[in-house]
Amino acid sequence: MSQQKLIIPDPLSALDKSSFAYKTIKDRLPVIIVKTIDFLHRHRQDLHKFGGTINKPNEAEIAEIETDAKEFISHLTKLRKELETNKPAQLVEVIGPDCQFCPSDDVDLWNQALEANKLQDGSLPRWFESPWLLMECYLYRRIKDAALRTRHLKCYDPFVEQKHAACLASISQMNAVARHLLLVEEAIHQSPKGVHPSERSEFGLFVQLALWANKADLSIGGMSADNIQSQNLSSDIRDAIDSLRENILCDNMSEFWFKFQAIKNTLRQRKADATSLEPIYIDLVADNSGYEIFVDLCLLSALSSMLDLSHESNLLKFRIHVKRMPWFVSDTLKVDIDWLLNLMINHDSTDLQRLGKVWEGNLEKEIWEIHADKFWTLPHDYSQMQEVAPELHSTLAKSSLIIFKGDLNYRKLTGDRKWHILTPFRVALRGFAPAPLVALRTAKADVVVGLEDISIFARINNNELPRDWMISGDYGLIQFFDPL
Ligand code: F6P
Ligand code: MG
Repeated sequence: MSQQKLIIPDPLSALDKSSFAYKTIKDRLPVIIVKTIDFLHRHRQDLHKFGGTINKPNEAEIAEIETDAKEFISHLTKLRKELETNKPAQLVEVIGPDCQFCPSDDVDLWNQALEANKLQDGSLPRWFESPWLLMECYLYRRIKDAALRTRHLKCYDPFVEQKHAACLASISQMNAVARHLLLVEEAIHQSPKGVHPSERSEFGLFVQLALWANKADLSIGGMSADNIQSQNLSSDIRDAIDSLRENILCDNMSEFWFKFQAIKNTLRQRKADATSLEPIYIDLVADNSGYEIFVDLCLLSALSSMLDLSHESNLLKFRIHVKRMPWFVSDTLKVDIDWLLNLMINHDSTDLQRLGKVWEGNLEKEIWEIHADKFWTLPHDYSQMQEVAPELHSTLAKSSLIIFKGDLNYRKLTGDRKWHILTPFRVALRGFAPAPLVALRTAKADVVVGLEDISIFARINNNELPRDWMISGDYGLIQFFDPL
């Protein structure tokens, strides 16, 4: 029998003027740069008030920070001009001294990726001609580059104001989710067998909450704290989640559930077999900060309680993978989790306080670990992980389950290519399969695969979905793949 060779489609790029890639490069990215400049200008004298890495500067340092802000702005202005005039990218430079979170160990990998994508005329990649994923990631690496060229702002997050405002606008929703989680945990605690009476339904609820928390992200030009607030789910969580059910275009919830049950059985066996001390790992490859990471941590808490409420065995660990530099505006940094926990612990709501303290304890006891590998802020897609980041790949290979959150992770899983929507998810992964994985993503880019349900395909084919269904964030995917 002849083996059919897989034809891998081209990457998405702004070359196609009707694409969302074109709209992003032409309109959205300049808006992101301008908003960043505006923030640095408005707060040039009090950038330290947003916390983070510049603590209590004295008067002389405040003056130096203002000079830094101006320098930062001039690099961003230059970057905007380069983008708007379609200039070729520049190789990334080592700028010392390093930022404490981001050593310059990514420079060679960045430059290899830029060189590998040279255009036919021999020039380095250009904004409107090269792969969208590469150029969009490059934007954030250049923003980091501008920060590194300053004295006090090397580790500064220029998106911090937007992130904090969006998170504060979602507090009441966070409170409602926290309340529900605590009730679920209480019910597990009270049940003689440590099993929630509606475990499967609660599992589904937290998975869907995590899915829809990805609806809003701050890299969508014009998205502000107000928009985020208006996207809040109503106070009856279950009704709100049920009403979104038909917007899930691929729903592998059952496969995900059965995998979860298998993990539960393995954990039970390991507990019974006292000789096995190897913990079970569940990995979260996080996306946005604020409400989204809050709900993602609620999902981890719910999974953890359903698996092993007491945590007495020490056989269950969660690894939370975050970005190490400001990324796609709203992506989670470690400092964002610290800020969130501080907000929760000091909040008036006793539910948020309680949860915040438990989560802080999970981190202290290393039941939860935060990892910030450099691979997550490279432009490479995940089929390249084994070659580019073999250590990260083998860490993930020890996982029982990897949860990938959000749009950008999905683009990197599928290589951000022009796949047909019926292409199986497994095929679009192109060999990336370190462990069982699930993608929870609302569609905000024109790459969607794995639409297994023929009636959904028919709805799309008959134009029954809005024209912008791939990019509006209104439609979601729960896609599961188990290499075994
Ligand atoms: O701008 C590209 C893009 O992938 C959008 O399509 C999306 O809005 C955003 O970046 C990132 O989304 P997410 O935070 O869900 O990864
Ligand atoms: Mg994001």
